[in-house]
Amino acid sequence: MAKGKNVLGLDIGSSSVKACLLKETKKGLTLQAFDTQQLPPEAIVDGALMDSGAVVDAIRQIVGRNKIKVKETALSVSGHSVIIKKIPLPTMSREELEQSIQWEAEQYIPFDISDVYLAVEVLNQSAQPGQMDVLLVAAKKDLINDYVTVVKEAQLSPIIVDVDAFCLQNMFEVNYGELPGQTIVLLDIGASTININVVSDGVTVFTRDISMGGNQFTEEIQKQLNITYEEAETYKKGGGSSDAVIPHEVEKVIQQVADSLAGEIQRSLDFYAATSADSNISRIYLSGGSGNIPSLGRIIGRTSGVTVEPVNPFRNVTANQNQFTPQYLESVGMIGAVSVGLALRRTNEL
Ligand SMILES: Nc1ncnc2c1ncn2[C@@H]1O[C@H](COP(=O)(O)OP(=O)(O)OP(=O)(O)O)[C@@H](O)[C@H]1O
Ligand SMILES: [Mg+2]
Repeated sequence: MAKGKNVLGLDIGSSSVKACLLKETKKGLTLQAFDTQQLPPEAIVDGALMDSGAVVDAIRQIVGRNKIKVKETALSVSGHSVIIKKIPLPTMSREELEQSIQWEAEQYIPFDISDVYLAVEVLNQSAQPGQMDVLLVAAKKDLINDYVTVVKEAQLSPIIVDVDAFCLQNMFEVNYGELPGQTIVLLDIGASTININVVSDGVTVFTRDISMGGNQFTEEIQKQLNITYEEAETYKKGGGSSDAVIPHEVEKVIQQVADSLAGEIQRSLDFYAATSADSNISRIYLSGGSGNIPSLGRIIGRTSGVTVEPVNPFRNVTANQNQFTPQYLESVGMIGAVSVGLALRRTNEL
């Protein structure tokens, strides 16, 4: 059993905050708490916190409602302010790497190096002798500082900042194993961001964030049916009308938007395939709230020619059935994926 204790996983998404608390016992992982709180529209735009107060409030509500006592928190960031790149370097020690990374990173990062936090991880996958592959992560300092501040204002203690793509990878490994020899795609489609994470032999080999998501569906339904955003959101989720014409109209719009999202995702997968030796993807594991749109997964499967399967972040997590019914866990599985990945982090990993 790993040392340290589990932290609170806090996924601050643009449409809602998700919190997950796990406990590692002799029997494996058990779910202590999972909850979500909707954010007002425009509270987070393009990853930037426009209304910090609303986010603080949402976190406080979750903590209060669930009587969460754990303070140590892991949060994550994604989007344009985060760059993840696999770079080749001459083989060197960890110490040498730490020293040279500022300088090495400059040629790969489109931001001023003094404006970003850097992290590196040796992948050790290079075929060339004397060379190693390193995963370089750079995130804008002001963005991270804003998120950290919000978590502190909610009386929590942010000790780990992760990246959505890696949270998904950790969540996946715990629930599905490493799948040696296979290349799979973890695809999270949220409200405003699509995270694509290609994992080969248990190692991230390609990631990309696209600024699209569930909002596109809602906006297009609103526009084409000339209704309010809230009505459009309800229709998108399959509710709201007894009139048979409307579901038909809605489904048509959903298919149009799904086609354009699937096309955008495919461009990234094509780029990955063109730049990689082992490009044979065996499966796409879908998460994020928009993964609940049935035709979206179907259209992505058709466009890519790869089987799409909804991810279950609670597959290897036991839960008290009186506290969390299987139906509830199934209904929140897609939106919970990132927060489960965060909740796997531990206090001794700093
Ligand atoms: N049952 C459903 N059917 C269709 N769409 C849904 C359903 N449930 C949630 N969504 C959509 O999923 C999106 C929210 O998903 P999620 O919570 O993963 O996003 P987020 O993490 O807040 O956003 P992001 O990661 O993009 O910042 C919203 O656009 C919402 O409308
Ligand atoms: Mg999200």
